[in-house]
Amino acid sequence: MLRRLNMDARKDVAEKYREAAELGKLPDVPAAFVFGDGTGSEKIVLVGEAPGKDEVREGRPFVGAAGKILDDFLKRSGIPRDQLYITNSVKYRLARPGKRQGTLANRPVKKFELEYCSSWLRNELDIIRPALVVTLGNTALAAVGMALGAELKDNIGELHGKALSGQCFSEGQAFTLIPLYHPASLIYNRDLRDDYEKDLQEVKKCAQSIL
Ligand code: URA
Repeated sequence: MLRRLNMDARKDVAEKYREAAELGKLPDVPAAFVFGDGTGSEKIVLVGEAPGKDEVREGRPFVGAAGKILDDFLKRSGIPRDQLYITNSVKYRLARPGKRQGTLANRPVKKFELEYCSSWLRNELDIIRPALVVTLGNTALAAVGMALGAELKDNIGELHGKALSGQCFSEGQAFTLIPLYHPASLIYNRDLRDDYEKDLQEVKKCAQSIL
């Protein structure tokens, strides 16, 4: 089911890009898509922002430098790797031309991109029906809010580490959502580290009650 979804959704996003590009609104269709990683039978879903250079090269989320983020998350949350489905809010690299000619750099997401990828994420969650969803950073929080049509403020500063409940999939199954800061942001803002530590304990507690 996930395979079918990925094929259809990739076509759908590329088509939306093409239509908008024809109207002169957008750059080219993204060159490569990186799908979520897992079988779909996992109980916990981790949602990041978007694949980077390494992810596009390997075709999997959270590898290369970001693989360390993932390893650290798994170790400290106590979640076994096979219970975690890993995906991103946007399934292609958010790239812009880099400073050196011929290179690419990462850039922030645009709202229309979250909208284009929103039903993709929603359908992933609908198929997997996890008991716990963990978002990394403001973009992922906004993306999950948008995907579920939930009244979620994309305000990580207020919502981080809180176990939010009452959100529902289309057939009414409840799950818990815990927003975390994106670990990459801790590199630039060391003040967030203590909060991130505490928030991870919340994830651990919730995961233990589920697994
Ligand atoms: N790699 C990903 O796949 N997602 C992120 O959010 C960061 C790095």
